[in-house]
Amino acid sequence: MKILIDDANVDKIKALYDYYPIDGVTTNPSILTKSGRKPYDVLCEIREFIGPNAQLHAQVISPKAEDMVKEGHKIVEMLGKNTFVKIPAVPEGIKAMRLLSQEGFGVTATAIYTPMQAFWSAKAGADYAAPYVNRIDNLGADGVAAAKKMHDIFKNCGFKTEILAASFKNSQQVQELCEYGVGAATLAPDTIENFLKNACVTSAVDVFISDFENSYGKGATMLNY
Ligand code: G3P
Repeated sequence: MKILIDDANVDKIKALYDYYPIDGVTTNPSILTKSGRKPYDVLCEIREFIGPNAQLHAQVISPKAEDMVKEGHKIVEMLGKNTFVKIPAVPEGIKAMRLLSQEGFGVTATAIYTPMQAFWSAKAGADYAAPYVNRIDNLGADGVAAAKKMHDIFKNCGFKTEILAASFKNSQQVQELCEYGVGAATLAPDTIENFLKNACVTSAVDVFISDFENSYGKGATMLNY
């Protein structure tokens, strides 16, 4: 299962890459706006940092399919290989997905709230479909169950499309999709950091260190004792 960072703050991306095995970065127009920078400035800097082998997902803005396709060409021209063009799963978007995937571009269907949006995206050749788990929860529905249903549709219908689950607000939502074996999840930095924030674990590790230091001296480790 791939884990990506859903953010455009380069410092945060660098800090997370330092600790965690991360597979790439996703953005959307709102995330790019929050960076306070020009879109291609920040996206190119992210690409330079993550390198050519990591995934970078960037979204089109135009409402019409033909313009989405043109934007997709420009996005990939600017950001290179392993760039996925994010396209909303609306009728114009489905058309653009079909055209771009026929040309061999990587495509991520986004703004997915229902399993049939995911189905049509897969039919149109999308590589990934991004269900908005927490936003679905906020509608009074079950975002994790919806993402699982989409995963089942892809497997049962023989599509190559994978889930790239997005919009999480807690670890439990992510964990359930890990258990289910979905293809990928993209997470905000604080969601990633919260997985391993646990006072019990910190306390257990502190006891190991203090037991060792109490016996072998302050600062003793397996390297210097
Ligand atoms: O790109 C989709 C995802 O970033 C949405 O997340 O937290 O705005 O619901 P959120």
